[in-house]
Amino acid sequence: MTDRTLVLHPDLLQPGVQPSLRAPEARLQEAVGLATAISLGVEHAEVAAVKQVRPATLIGGGLVERLAETIAEKKIDVVIVDSALTPVQQRNLERAWQCKVIDRTGLILEIFGARARTKEGKLQVELAALSYQRSRLVRSWTHLERQRGGVGFMGGPGESQLEIDRRLITERITRLKKELKQVQRTRGLHRGARQRVPYPVVAFVGYTNAGKSTLFNRLTEAKVLAQDQLFATLDPTMRRVVLPSGQTVILSDTVGFISDLPTDLIAAFRATLEEVLEADLILHVRDIAHADSRAQEADVKAVLGDLGVTENATHLLEVLNKADLLGPQDRSRLALRDAGKPPAVLCSALTGEGCGDVLAMIDQALSAKRVQRTLRLPVSEGAALSWLYDHAEVLERKDDDLVACVTVKIAQPDFQRYLKLFPELAEQEAEFPEDADPLESAIENQLHSG
Ligand code: GTP
Repeated sequence: MTDRTLVLHPDLLQPGVQPSLRAPEARLQEAVGLATAISLGVEHAEVAAVKQVRPATLIGGGLVERLAETIAEKKIDVVIVDSALTPVQQRNLERAWQCKVIDRTGLILEIFGARARTKEGKLQVELAALSYQRSRLVRSWTHLERQRGGVGFMGGPGESQLEIDRRLITERITRLKKELKQVQRTRGLHRGARQRVPYPVVAFVGYTNAGKSTLFNRLTEAKVLAQDQLFATLDPTMRRVVLPSGQTVILSDTVGFISDLPTDLIAAFRATLEEVLEADLILHVRDIAHADSRAQEADVKAVLGDLGVTENATHLLEVLNKADLLGPQDRSRLALRDAGKPPAVLCSALTGEGCGDVLAMIDQALSAKRVQRTLRLPVSEGAALSWLYDHAEVLERKDDDLVACVTVKIAQPDFQRYLKLFPELAEQEAEFPEDADPLESAIENQLHSG
């Protein structure tokens, strides 16, 4: 049975406090989406303007009373307050409303708990949840400390319940951190293996519910969990796809971003996002029809910026998804606004409109990174030669006794892979500028091979 839920977005209008970039209604909808994502049945949702924050209950007494009526009338089991609640506020509201109250951090933790799939993701979420719980314990229990005698193994007689709980949580946190370190070490190993992935990697990033999984499925025709649920993916999923030019790439789907991420959860996010940094291209998928599209864009770019990916990074591309929801006016406004900006493609992962353009944009970005190289290698190096034929466009090949002189056009990331895969052949490379004059190159080739 799903819990009957009421979602409240307190719009905090405090003097001196910057109003949020987002419209309160859109924030409410996001909170409703998050609640639905963990199968809560939302019976009632509203935005409440809060002029003055009350230390005891966050919201004013009149509103507490009015909502108490709604809660009783609609038989609500859970109230989600889309804001950070102190433990005292949470407890007071639970008393006033006679039901469970969850704040925004608690809600996101629930979602992460339900969605984490990788070992590391799960550990990170548990760690975050325990830290959250411990901070609540410390603050909420300090004046409630009670003695619990004779618990023997749980702690010395007379040890307070708070201390026992806190100690157990601290022990668990220490154990988790150790386990996490171990997992991270093996992730490092896996990453080493990933670097040997023989194709360029294109990572999808974007705000939660932007349509990353849907686009990923559309482009790869693979069935990855795509639901109208936030955070349907918490660990990256990878698929191989052949671009129109014949170049093979790996598409990698990642977890969605969210605004006001609790600090404790940032580590869990970074764990998954670090993989993005190793990608050859980053595809920022945006829900262009969303009321908060701009604010979402700013969020994603800020996080990417923290990770060292700047807005002008040449390997950052933009996909404006959900075009099917735009009217003709929106489209022309978009065209005007985005004129002259970095590469962006309008598409609909749902209808398929523009999806070919997405692949073409990836193709183009990769080929812009293509360089021309002339390589000399023993003809006996069959593996290296066939790798080159697979991954590069061979412009010319001349065999001279035992040495093959091969001129190729190759994606820069692929070339780096070649050097890593066949380090003993790296020194045999003769380098020419990308747009070298073919005649000049031929002469140089002659000189080198002679
Ligand atoms: P997270 O896993 O939470 O990060 O979400 P996501 O970005 O992977 O989004 P997902 O692909 O799960 O899509 C979210 C919702 O948007 C689903 O209901 C999709 O059907 C819908 N959706 C995706 N693309 C489009 C689109 O082009 N047009 C419309 N109208 N809906 C879309």
